[in-house]
Amino acid sequence: GAPVEIDLSKVEPGQLIRVEWRGKPVWVVRRTEKVLAELKNLDGQLRDPNSEEPQQPSYAQNPTRAVKDEFFIGVGICTHLGCSPTYLPDSFGEQVEGVEAGFFCPCHGSKFDMAGRVFAGVPAPLNLVVPPHQYLNDTTVVVG
Ligand code: FES
Repeated sequence: GAPVEIDLSKVEPGQLIRVEWRGKPVWVVRRTEKVLAELKNLDGQLRDPNSEEPQQPSYAQNPTRAVKDEFFIGVGICTHLGCSPTYLPDSFGEQVEGVEAGFFCPCHGSKFDMAGRVFAGVPAPLNLVVPPHQYLNDTTVVVG
């Protein structure tokens, strides 16, 4: 499949947009300051906070799993059995108490933070996949 170019200039804080790359859904989420601050405090609740498991690009091995902190770019497929997790920008606290926002997989209850890192104690074994991507400039990213 061809690389996909994404214009980030129109993505609002908190918004998630979807593009298709190689037949897969890829999410781009513009994270708010509040969400970014929260990522630093979740390590103890996560299975692999530093993304040490294989199949992670090097730029996914940091707390935000991103080239640019503001934007999370991830494949929107649960690493358990492939369902599509739901983005919960306002009500994730019902899944993980005290956590602002995240992704919840309705199939078997896996939970991921706003960097796609899986919480401990759920069926999904791995963090969401960060696809290969690079920035052409401040507001344009190419996936693939
Ligand atoms: Fe997501 Fe099973 S497919 S929890």
